[in-house]
Amino acid sequence: MCPSNSEIISVNIFRAGYENFNIFKDFSLTVRHGEFLGIYGSNGAGKTTLLKAIAGFPPPLFEGEVIVKGRVGYVFQNPDNQIIGATVEEDIRFGLENLPLDCETIEARLQETLLTFDLEKLRSKDTLTLSGGQKQRLAIAAIMCLDPDVLLFDEPFSMLDRRERRAIMSLVKSLRNKQITAVIASTNMKDLTFCDKVINLNGGESLDRVR
Ligand SMILES: Nc1ncnc2c1ncn2[C@@H]1O[C@H](COP(=O)(O)OP(=O)(O)O)[C@@H](O)[C@H]1O
Ligand SMILES: [Mg+2]
Repeated sequence: MCPSNSEIISVNIFRAGYENFNIFKDFSLTVRHGEFLGIYGSNGAGKTTLLKAIAGFPPPLFEGEVIVKGRVGYVFQNPDNQIIGATVEEDIRFGLENLPLDCETIEARLQETLLTFDLEKLRSKDTLTLSGGQKQRLAIAAIMCLDPDVLLFDEPFSMLDRRERRAIMSLVKSLRNKQITAVIASTNMKDLTFCDKVINLNGGESLDRVR
């Protein structure tokens, strides 16, 4: 749909904030189709505010423009805020059944998603009993099966132990093969080394990386 290398996200903020203070002033960024952009910043730096603005939910004080040429999927910081199904299968189904798809397509996509995200064995498991890493994997799978063009990740590794963190990081990296564009927020620069480019919200320069 979008020719590769063209801009898929364009953010131009004159000012944005809550009540009487600006979090962003004269801030802009662009993301190209297929690019992985890291948003680095300590707590309170504005990462969630920026991701929400990209998703179409700017803060109450907002002067500027956000253009996203495609469907957006948002992975919340805490997967508990995102998982609504009683079982893994139900959670994936929920999103699919809200799309205008016929039954056969829903079954095919469900099956493909369970296999791709290694959730087949957990299919009937109660979502309340999943580990943190399994919950994060389910949250990402349930969004990916809706076929978004852009994925926004708000601190996707922050609630995970080291082993789970490695697994979810390789999952996020593997999304590169799926023609997706991603914006990933983190308080840890090390989590963002696989990104093409990292923007530093702590007042520093943006760090361009070569893939
Ligand atoms: N709903 C809100 N009302 C008022 N201030 C808020 C609200 N949400 C966030 N903030 C403030 O905006 C700043 C940026 O917050 P946030 O975008 O959540 O940062 P981060 O995700 O980087 O931790 C912080 O100072 C935070 O306290
Ligand atoms: Mg945040």
